Amino acid sequence: MAIALITLAAGQGTRMKSDLPKVLHQVGRAPLVAHALAAGRALEPETVIVVAGHGADKVKKAVAKVDPEAQIVLQEEQLGTGHAVAQALPALDGFDGRVIVLYGDTPFIRPETLERLAASDAAVTVLGFEAADPGRYGRLVAQGDTLDRIVEFKDATDEERAITLCNSGVIACDAVLLTELVAGLSNENASQEYYLTDIVEAARKKGLTAQVVTCDEAETLGINTRAELARAEALFQERMRAEAMENGVTMVEPTSVWFALDTYISRDVVLGPNVVFGPDVTIESGAVIEAFCHLEGCHISRGATIGPFARLRPGAELAEDVHIGNFVEVKNAILAEGVKVGHLTYLGDADIGEHTNIGAGTVTCNYDGVMKHRTTIGANAFIGSDTMLVAPVTVGDGALTGSGSVISKDVPAEAIAIERSEQVNRPGLAKKLFAKLRAEKARRMKKD
Ligand code: UD1
Ligand code: CA
Repeated sequence: MAIALITLAAGQGTRMKSDLPKVLHQVGRAPLVAHALAAGRALEPETVIVVAGHGADKVKKAVAKVDPEAQIVLQEEQLGTGHAVAQALPALDGFDGRVIVLYGDTPFIRPETLERLAASDAAVTVLGFEAADPGRYGRLVAQGDTLDRIVEFKDATDEERAITLCNSGVIACDAVLLTELVAGLSNENASQEYYLTDIVEAARKKGLTAQVVTCDEAETLGINTRAELARAEALFQERMRAEAMENGVTMVEPTSVWFALDTYISRDVVLGPNVVFGPDVTIESGAVIEAFCHLEGCHISRGATIGPFARLRPGAELAEDVHIGNFVEVKNAILAEGVKVGHLTYLGDADIGEHTNIGAGTVTCNYDGVMKHRTTIGANAFIGSDTMLVAPVTVGDGALTGSGSVISKDVPAEAIAIERSEQVNRPGLAKKLFAKLRAEKARRMKKD
């Protein structure tokens, strides 16, 4: 059955005390709304709609980055979850499948849970959970998995408040029926809001079925405060670490490794302690990342060894068996198979050919203060320590640069390029100089 996703993200999140709309606060280096969208995407929806309100422009930009196909609709005034869904429905005109409503501030719903929800054939299906502390959640009035209605905390009787089966907010409903039910909502309740939750009772009154599908409470965790955001980060990291190990990744000290939402690591990768992932990193099997590496926007191929203390920045593309050692930074550079960059080097905007060795202290001088330029080095080349490569510049296959050279002209294949003044040796002069300096020091100490 075709699926459409509506993600509600119009709220301000007052308790965050922030200029940023709540759904743009980050967990795992990705905005909260990206987590909800990623879970929803697993259902392969035909249409994805995000309802934005507070900070809609910012939300739109962020969503365009993480999910370019998602449509944004505006809810100018936040008149309730039912009203929010009503704003999205015109964009679903003619859609005849199932609609799933998610919240943009609820990042932990698992795709498998959404699949179970989508598989239900009741007219309306609600994702519920047994709450340890039901607090102010909406309560599910149900018999077994048959749902009668949802009552909001504010509107509930003491008896209803005693119910511990709560509404996560995630609801599935046939599109045509949803349009009809939402049109019939009223705001005559304690909050004077249009409650999406009222569609359950309305469906039942029509003689239709409503069902509860339950999940673990941890999946329904919503974020309202900075403290909850920090807790969510911790939970997210725990989940990612567990998943990585489950998939065959070795971690020496898992609690010190920090993942992003889109970190992909194959089996038999070894991660040392204190490895931090920014967005968009993929590591192929058998690679080893030593302690204290910071990786983002990069791809590391099989058998590569990275670090300790290396930094890979966006556009770093490392082929098989590349070695990156300590205090090396790589940005927007393609390193072919077997390239070795052992120590203290910056490679930015560069192409490095197979099995080339980059000596310690090499720098690609890629920026002239206005523009960036590329450095191209061929295969089997040897870049001597402390070579400055003033881009744009090309070093040919099998060429060698002398240590300490500033290379600003292209080097032909198999040539040696040396750029440094001639060395002069003066026999015995050091000994004389030291004697003079020591005598001077002694003289000054006597004076004091
Ligand atoms: C809602 C549910 C409640 C459930 C709880 C779970 C209703 C009426 N109540 O309550 O049963 O237990 O979530 O967390 O649905 N939003 C909009 N526009 C609006 C109102 C809300 O986009 O006009 C978005 C918010 O940004 C948020 C989500 O919808 O992401 C939920 O809104 P919120 O006000 O937090 O709902 P609750 O009152 O907590
Ligand atoms: Ca020099």
